[in-house]
Amino acid sequence: MKKSFIRAIITVFAILLLTACGQGQGEETKKLLMGTSADFSPFETRDNKGEIVGFDIDLAKYIANELGYELEIQDMNFDGLVGALQANRVDFVASGMSATDTRKESVDFSEEYHRSGEMFVTLKDSELKGMADLEGKHIAVQLGTIQEEGAKKLAEKINLEIKVLDKVPNMIQELKSGRVDGVYLDKAVGQGYVKELDLAGFDDESEGTPGMAIAFPKGSELIEDFNRIIAEMQENGELAKLHQKWISEEE
Ligand code: ARG
Repeated sequence: MKKSFIRAIITVFAILLLTACGQGQGEETKKLLMGTSADFSPFETRDNKGEIVGFDIDLAKYIANELGYELEIQDMNFDGLVGALQANRVDFVASGMSATDTRKESVDFSEEYHRSGEMFVTLKDSELKGMADLEGKHIAVQLGTIQEEGAKKLAEKINLEIKVLDKVPNMIQELKSGRVDGVYLDKAVGQGYVKELDLAGFDDESEGTPGMAIAFPKGSELIEDFNRIIAEMQENGELAKLHQKWISEEE
C-alpha cells in the first residue's frame, strides 16, 4: 500500500518534470549572436544610453525578426571579427565589413547591402588637401580594415607614416590632438565626423573597394535566408528607408 503510493507520486513528478522540460524547449526562441565593432557610426555605434545602434543593427534586427530569431549583439574589436566567425563564436557579423576576396577565403558573405568608398578626414586648416599631399604625412587607420591594407599599399610608393589603432574614435582623437595629419576610413563614416566635428577631408581616388556585406562562418546555413530577406528589403523599400535614416548624406 505505502510502496505503491510512493511509486505513484514518483511517477507523477517524473511526468511533470518531463512535461516541463519539453515545454521549455518548445517555447525557447531561437537566438542569433551577432558580432560587431560598435565604433563605426552610422553603421554601428553606441548612443548616449550605451545602446548599440546604427544601420547594421536595424538591418540585422529586421532580418532576425523576419526569420523568427532573437538577436543578441556582441561588441568586439573589428580585428577580431573574422576570427570569431571562424571559431563559430558568433553566428554572423554585421560591421560595415567589405566583402573582399581575401576575407572570402575565411568566411562567407551575404549579398552586398551598401557601398561607400573611402576618404581622408583632416583638420580644417590642414596642408593635406588631396592625394598629392600625402607624401611625408602621418595617417591613422583601423586595425584589420581594408583601409589599413590600402594605406600600407600606398606606403610602398610614397613616404607615409601609418598609425594603426583598434577603434575609430581613437583615430579621430589622434587627428584632433594633431598627432596624425589624416584619418583614412570609410566615406560614410568620415562624412559623419566631418559634419559633426567641423573637420575637412577628401575622397580617396584610388581604385574602388567592394561593398559591405554580412559575414558568416564558412558554409553557414543562414546565408540563403539572409539573402532572401535582403532581397525582400530591396523590393519593399526597407533598405532604402535604412539608407535614408542613417546615411542620407550621400547620394
Ligand atoms: N569597410 C572596412 C572594412 O571592411 C572598414 C570596416 C570597419 N568596421 C567597423 N565596424 N569598425 O575593412
